[in-house]
Amino acid sequence: MKKLVIGCDHAAPELKAIVRDHLIQRGFEVIDVGTHTTESCNYPDYAHALCTKIQSGECDLGILICGTGIGMSMAANKHKGIRAACCSDTFSARLTRLHNDANVLCFGARVVGQGLALDLADIFVDTEFEGGKHKTRIDMFADIENGQ
Ligand code: RB5
Repeated sequence: MKKLVIGCDHAAPELKAIVRDHLIQRGFEVIDVGTHTTESCNYPDYAHALCTKIQSGECDLGILICGTGIGMSMAANKHKGIRAACCSDTFSARLTRLHNDANVLCFGARVVGQGLALDLADIFVDTEFEGGKHKTRIDMFADIENGQ
């Protein structure tokens, strides 16, 4: 069973809790790195807290929610080995696991409703990377990160 980590900024504590509890109910272990209130905060802090859990190997996949999902995905993608995808449709959420081996899903609490958020999360955690030619391309990310 994959180990998951979830985080958000002040735009999404309620939606984050709904997604977290749904995944826990499905049997996943889910670490919640906050935030837990609607008090204004800086989303890169939470993106960083989540990404370090994946970089260390403590967690396999992460979900980040802000107002749009965009800021979180930008901050997450500044971390080595993190492949964050901002998705607000289920096709993209599936394909980013199949082809991009995304390890962080981002979406916006001001963009998607509760039902779509749960579908995005389910599809993301249930879909496996296809590997093959896609692995060659993912490996090229590391070369870029290492300045080669
Ligand atoms: C916060 O107001 C908002 O800017 C943030 O949640 C996010 O949408 C940034 O990308």
